[in-house]
Amino acid sequence: MGKRYYIETMGCQMNEYDSDHLSRILEDSGYLRASEPDKADFVLVNTCSVRAKAEQKALSRLGRLASLKRKNPGFLLGVAGCVAQQRGSDLFERFPGLDLVLGPREIGNFREILRRAENGGTRLAAVNAHTRPASFMGRFDYFQNSIKAYITIIEGCNNFCSYCIVPYVRGRETSRPPHEILDEARNLSLQGVKEITLLGQNVNSYVYGDTRFPGLLQAMNEIKSLRRIRFTTSHPKDLSPELIECFAHLEKLCSHIHLPFQAGSNRVLKAMKRGYTCETYMERIHELRQARPGIAVTSDVMVGFPGETEQDFELTLDLMQKIEFDNLFSFKYSDRAGTQAARMQGKIPEKEKLARLSRLQELQRGITLQKNRELIGKNVEVLVEGASKKGHAFTGRTNTNKVVNFQCDDSPKDTLVNVKVKRASFNSLWGELTSIRS
Ligand code: SAH
Ligand code: SF4
Ligand code: F3S
Repeated sequence: MGKRYYIETMGCQMNEYDSDHLSRILEDSGYLRASEPDKADFVLVNTCSVRAKAEQKALSRLGRLASLKRKNPGFLLGVAGCVAQQRGSDLFERFPGLDLVLGPREIGNFREILRRAENGGTRLAAVNAHTRPASFMGRFDYFQNSIKAYITIIEGCNNFCSYCIVPYVRGRETSRPPHEILDEARNLSLQGVKEITLLGQNVNSYVYGDTRFPGLLQAMNEIKSLRRIRFTTSHPKDLSPELIECFAHLEKLCSHIHLPFQAGSNRVLKAMKRGYTCETYMERIHELRQARPGIAVTSDVMVGFPGETEQDFELTLDLMQKIEFDNLFSFKYSDRAGTQAARMQGKIPEKEKLARLSRLQELQRGITLQKNRELIGKNVEVLVEGASKKGHAFTGRTNTNKVVNFQCDDSPKDTLVNVKVKRASFNSLWGELTSIRS
């Protein structure tokens, strides 16, 4: 029987992209996908350490798998991602069953690392944060049956926002050559992928030779069989007029931007070292809405940053009311060892952070619901992803990235359709098919 692998992925889309990459290398090396860890010969946990909770989740999962290994020593256990990078070979002491520690920048060397791990004997920690990002060519048919895919275009981050661990674990910004990204995108579109999301912690600072991010988007827009282009994440301080222009001119670029604002108080933004004020943030949103009327705006926000007062927090709520985000990802500030904020005075008690978070989420719930309800009676374009979880309906996303379920007798997977919205909830829309576009 062939060898089997199992990868568990936590964290952001960049980890998902990395896990896809690792899966392809494993499949190339003769492994088949296992349905669960105890049926696998190689188990890998791809981890996140952005908040303490994510890191704890990763460590407790590794603990469980390491104990599974005590019972069945037959498999190789590895840890990848940001916790692997952060803790390196210390993880071997904590988890005696662990064989391999693989940092995000070592994925390009995984083929060789895997061979060494399989040959056994020694435990291996590959955690160099300075190598260039992995190139993701290889197995041509891996994305058959997928209509959406990711491509990481820039690794790392140079911003060192005072609360954030990412620059420490993902290293400095390194952009991939545009020809490599475009080849990958063309290959994906030949396999039937219709929508590609370009990824980076800060895609706006993409630069390779003469090519900047707007130029890369322009070239992506010319790939014939591709229907939709998305990107994430953008940093407000680097959102250039040229990028905003892209929303006016590039028809494949979806009407959605994820633009984290983090806080509505300029004092807090400064302490976070974000490099913009809430006034400039509002201006950028105004320009985006002029360039692409109806563009959906989503964001990240944090409550309870050290020293955040009730007044600061209310400024965050004010900004949310002024902008009316389509959706918001909200977090309680979490201390990350080694960051500037971890050493700051004025830590907010957990109970207070929780109270602020629920007030904020309640406000956003109303805004999201109202925004979704505004679509009732309207026609929206949906890229169909497949059958929905509930009953005989299909599911997909609008250009603005909202989930739509709809009834249809045919099987319109992989196509763009028009749907008339009939109902709206906080999480999704429900509608009726009006026509098939392609
Ligand atoms: N590169 C992206 C975000 C990366 S992390 C950007 O700059 O916007 C995703 C989100 O996690 C951040 O936007 C922030 O809201 C949150 N986050 C990061 N560090 C955090 C911390 N220490 N505590 C709580 N939330 C954090
Ligand atoms: Fe972290 Fe700031 Fe970089 Fe985003 S821009 S990854 S929040 S340091
Ligand atoms: Fe988490 Fe690392 Fe992504 S810390 S958010 S997996 S870059």
